[in-house]
Amino acid sequence: MGINKYPHLFQPIVLGNRIFRNRIFASPTGYQNINGDGFLNEGAAAYYGRKAMGGVASVATFEGVVDGEFGKGGSGHICLDTPRIEMNLGRVSYGISQYGAVATLELQHCGMFANRDLAMFGGAGKGIAYGPVECEYGGRHIQGMTEEIIERTINKFIDAAVLAKRLGFGMVLIHAGHGWGLHQFLSPITNTRTDKWGGKDIENRCRMLIAIIDGIHKKCGKGFPVEVRISASECYEGGYGIENGIAIACQLEGHADLIHVSAGNHEVDEVFTITHPSMFQKDGCNVYLAEEIKKHVKTPVATIGALSDPELMEEIIATGKADVVELGRELMADPDFVNKIRTGNEDSVKTCMRCLSCFSSELTHGEPYCALNPESGRELEVKYAIPAPNVKKKVLIIGGGCAGMEAAITSVKRGHEVILCEKSSRLGGVLRCEENVDFKKKLEKYLNQQETIIGKMAIDVRLNTEVTPSYAKEVGADVIIAALGAKQLVPNIKGIDNKNVYGAIDAYKKTGELGESVVILGAGLVGVELGLHLRALGKKVTIVEMTDHMNDGGNFLHMSGVRVEVKKRGLEIKFETMAKEITENEVICQHDGNEVKFAADSVIYAVGMVPLTDELMKLYDCANEFYPIGDCVLPSNITNATTTAYMTGMNLGRC
Ligand SMILES: Cc1cc2nc3c(=O)[nH]c(=O)nc-3n(C[C@H](O)[C@H](O)[C@H](O)COP(=O)(O)O)c2cc1C
Ligand code: SF4
Repeated sequence: MGINKYPHLFQPIVLGNRIFRNRIFASPTGYQNINGDGFLNEGAAAYYGRKAMGGVASVATFEGVVDGEFGKGGSGHICLDTPRIEMNLGRVSYGISQYGAVATLELQHCGMFANRDLAMFGGAGKGIAYGPVECEYGGRHIQGMTEEIIERTINKFIDAAVLAKRLGFGMVLIHAGHGWGLHQFLSPITNTRTDKWGGKDIENRCRMLIAIIDGIHKKCGKGFPVEVRISASECYEGGYGIENGIAIACQLEGHADLIHVSAGNHEVDEVFTITHPSMFQKDGCNVYLAEEIKKHVKTPVATIGALSDPELMEEIIATGKADVVELGRELMADPDFVNKIRTGNEDSVKTCMRCLSCFSSELTHGEPYCALNPESGRELEVKYAIPAPNVKKKVLIIGGGCAGMEAAITSVKRGHEVILCEKSSRLGGVLRCEENVDFKKKLEKYLNQQETIIGKMAIDVRLNTEVTPSYAKEVGADVIIAALGAKQLVPNIKGIDNKNVYGAIDAYKKTGELGESVVILGAGLVGVELGLHLRALGKKVTIVEMTDHMNDGGNFLHMSGVRVEVKKRGLEIKFETMAKEITENEVICQHDGNEVKFAADSVIYAVGMVPLTDELMKLYDCANEFYPIGDCVLPSNITNATTTAYMTGMNLGRC
């Protein structure tokens, strides 16, 4: 018996001739903040390096496109054949390997999805795209790859791997999953060629991928490890299943050094949240695929998806379901995950709640901002933050929700004296109303964790304390951080004051009082998530929404998961429907010029939040410095609350 609590997770593994210090790898996650010349900004090396610093054995990068002309998906892609890219990439590899992790460059070709911007941004095909066969797809003409283009593509992958090795990367990861170029060749659905590169024969469909791997080994040496990411199943009706995944894995035997078993195809909306499991999926929901593949090959196998629980990861390796666990989002929520579990500090691990805010922000801002870890995507700013100030300030924080708690923790870490006032009897704020929601358990864990951290810090916590201007002045703080939050907007509808009407926050707390049929006004995230929760409790729920869509609150990828769940749980949403009157047992609405009625024992309004402006205005002159943060400035999401709180705390005492 060794001394390590997770002996299997921390057993090194050798791939090719490289030793990896443990079995936990950072899966590829994009960083798309690139300049007009196609170069990454300086934050990239810091972002990937931070994961390496936290103890993982390998850190995989963004998708490096091997062929800038024919393989690039959109403007956020980094092309490895860009002239003078070497120094830019070299800084990333060094940023990782200086911390003892293997730097792994992901190699990508978009195939038939090349030269289009993401469909979710209304992107349309612009340039040439080559797929396995000539076809019309998504309103554009796709050309079939000729022998020359296939040869060119193979050579581009090999050249990219040679470049990677030269720049200090210790492994390359070939992306042959999720619907991208090589996946298109592996799939019997998209690869209907009739020559040696495709068709019914799996050997033909894998020929290009195998030629790439063998070519890399030939040029870079047998010992240079090649990891191959595949979708073991496309996970949708009409897509290929695990049999094709097994067949691909068998072809990779003796060629690839690590088979990285992922799932899905990004072209199918419902599957996005299987590839990137949403908060509605169970932990380790895709492990079964790796387990199945592993029965058929001797090559080491990696599993990926919704892995945050160290006990589960240890069990996966110990029972031989996989040889390596790969973590995507968990390392954004907590890049120190590995070192924390290794040193017995599991309690302090921030567990990713799979809200996908990071991915949404990566696609809109180029950097993955995490709701729970405000340092994610800002590693460079953190690295060069001003030293803890000499001036110690007395800080009064008003409001103990997400923003107030984060501001308190950061301010104390920076050496300030903090008084945290919360008007209710408990820290956690408005989000505490969701603590019995099945898909919000990780949020609850986070709130409890922040509360515990605060309890252990030298913070003067004053619960049941409503801060009035005179109270604030009496405290005599140098700084007030106002994290007051927001209140629910009450719609001006006849009957809104009836006994059977609740605000969404109240409704969460009083589900026992609600009748069997419930109408929710508003299909924003609050209304829809509440609807899903009530469906799980067996209520008949109808949402009426004025517009023609659900409002995603800026997190459009979380909405993908929500949409799947709306279907699954049978949640009814009536769009372009305006509530006019609430009676004792129905909601009378207007739709398309006609009156429509919905039976309702209970009615809940979820039509938005308004900042507590009046309350805020009373406090601004109660201390020398005054910083309003979070929802009391602009009702938004957790990411916004924790980020503004963290930044405010970090910068106190600058002057
Ligand atoms: C912000 C973000 C960016 C990602 N970028 C990439 C990428 O560039 N290449 C890739 O192959 N997968 C990418 N992924 C997918 C992850 O590698 C991983 O497969 C997925 O997130 C599921 O793992 P997880 O549940 O541990 O996050 C990304 C995921 C996220 C959340
Ligand atoms: S933003 Fe959400 S999904 Fe992304 S890492 Fe943070 S908690 Fe996880």
